[in-house]
Amino acid sequence: MTPAVDTPRASSAHGLEPSAYEADGEGRAALPRRVFVIGATGTIGRAAVRALLRRGHEVVCLVRPRAGVGGALTPEASAQLLPGATLRVGDVGDAASLARDGFRGERFDVLVSCLASRTGTPKDAWDIDHRAQVLALEAARQAGVTQVVLLSAICVQKPRLAFQHAKLAFEKHLIDSGLTYSIVRPTAFFKSLSGQVDRVKRGKPFLLFGDGRLTACKPISDDDLAEYLARCIDDPSRRNRVLPIGGPGQAITPRQQGEQLFALLGRPPRFRQVPVALLDTIIAVLGLLGRVLPSLADKAELARIGRYYATESMLAWDPARGSYDAAATPSTGHDTLLDFHGRLLRGEATIERGDHAVF
Ligand SMILES: NC(=O)c1ccc[n+]([C@@H]2O[C@H](COP(=O)([O-])OP(=O)(O)OC[C@H]3O[C@@H](n4cnc5c(N)ncnc54)[C@H](OP(=O)(O)O)[C@@H]3O)[C@@H](O)[C@H]2O)c1
Repeated sequence: MTPAVDTPRASSAHGLEPSAYEADGEGRAALPRRVFVIGATGTIGRAAVRALLRRGHEVVCLVRPRAGVGGALTPEASAQLLPGATLRVGDVGDAASLARDGFRGERFDVLVSCLASRTGTPKDAWDIDHRAQVLALEAARQAGVTQVVLLSAICVQKPRLAFQHAKLAFEKHLIDSGLTYSIVRPTAFFKSLSGQVDRVKRGKPFLLFGDGRLTACKPISDDDLAEYLARCIDDPSRRNRVLPIGGPGQAITPRQQGEQLFALLGRPPRFRQVPVALLDTIIAVLGLLGRVLPSLADKAELARIGRYYATESMLAWDPARGSYDAAATPSTGHDTLLDFHGRLLRGEATIERGDHAVF
């Protein structure tokens, strides 16, 4: 499948002209829809619910009884994170629960999925990124849904990892379903690029794989991505497309991210280089031990995920040239990683880190 690249439309929320499919200049959709959201308690899911509500849609979310990182959220705590949305508690991995607790025999127009394995281990990825989404799609179709907006990832264009294969299998299932779809494949999120802010603030060096120029990405904020996802419902040019998307501005390398961070702190840059070969050794050792102890096989997969992000750019891949192409990676929104890091340093923003952190 060759992804069709969408050029993002201007958004009134970002100070530009309202689009034809908007009711007004306030960013509200001309045609409010009933939207069912799965993965609403995740980083992007929360932002997507906010964006959908801002656009005037009715939003119903299916959440599990213990949600959030480490199952820290009760249903009441989840409800506080998603003000304005209707919450239903159930199991997205169970067809009966999806119908009984989620859709409840009601009609819906759109399914928005920000569901994703929190661990990235092969079993969890196939259970959640593939099987649960297949079940949710079927339940949604039974409820009258004709349109699906899927949060995927740009890295599935060059699949090497179990979670990428699981995501691709669901993307194909969705495309083959005959429903109207928008498959959104973003580049790196701010939270994935902010793990070192605290250690650098405490005076430690910024860690780099190789010389810190092996990869690049166009960081995208939660809210800019969420706005992009929400507009997929109304924007005809985003229908039946696979949509790679990055944040505003030029692509930046990890070294440039480190330099920006030290500049914000008013200190000279200090880096420590970590050889990629170290990850290869860890992967080889855990892979061997994993043949005996399954828990170590999962750790080997996590090390493979780390190696992937240390060596592959989160930009559109040009198969003809065999290289990543920053210019071919569309941009949207207005939030920059530099501003976000400034807010983190001033204590005006926080990040929720899951199990994918490399540093
Ligand atoms: N991090 C990056 O830089 C990056 C870049 C591009 C694309 N992406 C992609 O973006 C996607 C999600 O990002 P995110 O950071 O928003 O994810 P996240 O914060 O980890 O949220 C995952 C969501 O899926 C739900 N979920 C996971 N396992 C579940 C289970 N067993 N049962 C029910 N619900 C479950 C979580 O619910 P609970 O709260 O109940 O756990 C949560 O709502 C992933 O597909 C990732 O590949 C990430």
